[in-house]
Amino acid sequence: MPVVTFYHQHRSHEVDSGANLREAMLRFGITPYKGAAMLTNCRGNNFCGTCVVEVVDGAGASARGQEEEATLIGSLAVAKVMEKNMRLSCQTSVVGDMTVKTHPPRVVDWPKTRERVGLLGIVSFFTVVLLGMTVYMVLDMVKLF
Ligand code: FES
Repeated sequence: MPVVTFYHQHRSHEVDSGANLREAMLRFGITPYKGAAMLTNCRGNNFCGTCVVEVVDGAGASARGQEEEATLIGSLAVAKVMEKNMRLSCQTSVVGDMTVKTHPPRVVDWPKTRERVGLLGIVSFFTVVLLGMTVYMVLDMVKLF
């Protein structure tokens, strides 16, 4: 059975091969979450991105999929730097021995974030204008009848 070593907790545990890393962590009383994410996480559905861990030696982890990478990149507005060893624990299967660091620091990718915020601003502006025009037209139509 593979052994998962939790670097910050100074503990090692055996887990079944193919076990989900997040579920194994929670079973051993180690949370991948911090702060409000303990309550607001998506419960392992690859949506929130708050269960990030660093797999120090990636050999024991399953391959990172495209959907996981999309979540790791960040939210609609804030882009994050995706380090090679960053993994979503809920999307990682244990296939061999590995060392895991919980709560790794996440770095904001400012150029991409500025780009996203700019696009969001443009989309928001045109949405508000379109909504205003629609309301104006409806009010104008009501006035005609
Ligand atoms: S728990 Fe939400 S992405 Fe892993």
